[in-house]
Amino acid sequence: MNTVTVFSPAKLNLFLAVTGRREDGYHDLVSVVAPLAWGDELSATLLGPGLGSPGTLACDDPAVPVDETNLVLKAARAFATATGWSERVHFTLKKRIPMGAGIGGGSSNGVAALRALNQLAGNPLAEPALATLAAGLGSDCALFLAGAPVIMRGRGERVELLGESERARLSGRRVLVFKPAFGVATPWAYRRLAATSGSYLPPADAEARVAAWRGDPAAPVESLLGNTLETAVFAKHLALPALLGELRRHCGLAPRMSGSGSACYSLLPSGADLPPIEAIIRDAWGPQCFVCDTVLA
Ligand code: C5P
Repeated sequence: MNTVTVFSPAKLNLFLAVTGRREDGYHDLVSVVAPLAWGDELSATLLGPGLGSPGTLACDDPAVPVDETNLVLKAARAFATATGWSERVHFTLKKRIPMGAGIGGGSSNGVAALRALNQLAGNPLAEPALATLAAGLGSDCALFLAGAPVIMRGRGERVELLGESERARLSGRRVLVFKPAFGVATPWAYRRLAATSGSYLPPADAEARVAAWRGDPAAPVESLLGNTLETAVFAKHLALPALLGELRRHCGLAPRMSGSGSACYSLLPSGADLPPIEAIIRDAWGPQCFVCDTVLA
């Protein structure tokens, strides 16, 4: 087995409440997050004994950095350090998930690299050890390791899998993901939130929102949706609330922003007619903006 190929999904924050600032500079949050059936593809090919550098990366999107700032190569270094496995690996990334979107592309790629390396190396790491490595790579990495809808807590590293009946309310739901040409840098969004007084939702309120949805099997996912980062990001990027307002008014949708943006999404009725919705999005954000019609995994 010389090459392993791993699917690297995007995610959506269906509910995201930032509940306070931590002493380590990160923020505590409560978030219900679902992977999508759509994403990138990462292949890892074993080249042979390494000489210092654990890997190289090529990507079909020239805008993606392929140096050691990329989480794929950070994951390779962390894996080599944790296991002592010293083979050289070449990664090939088919990039579909836009950057600066808040839908987890970089974090997902890092976890895909961990999975691929563990397979190539004969599975030296069990799930708890992989979870430790993943949490060290980024706040969203633990959820991608889970590979299923979860509730994230802490700075994101504590994940609880949703129960079967909760997953059944998410899985297969059609969702439209759309992103303007500009991205949002996550550290900026959190800084901006921290600078706005009264912007944190008390943790008990966040937990109560999630518990209300979990406890009512008849409650659709629509009743859960929310994101407390929206106010801070929308105050600067007016194109986001402007379009979401139009989609509410003209299409009866309930669109939200995912994570720290700039990607937004809307659940769609399965038979929804896409062209008129897409026309409104492209009219507002330009013909080149990103639009993807997919489903929650
Ligand atoms: O962990 P990750 O590298 O994805 O986080 C990017 C940045 O987002 C952090 O450096 C921090 O500024 C902010 N962040 C935060 N609290 C979180 C997650 C991210 O403040 N729970």
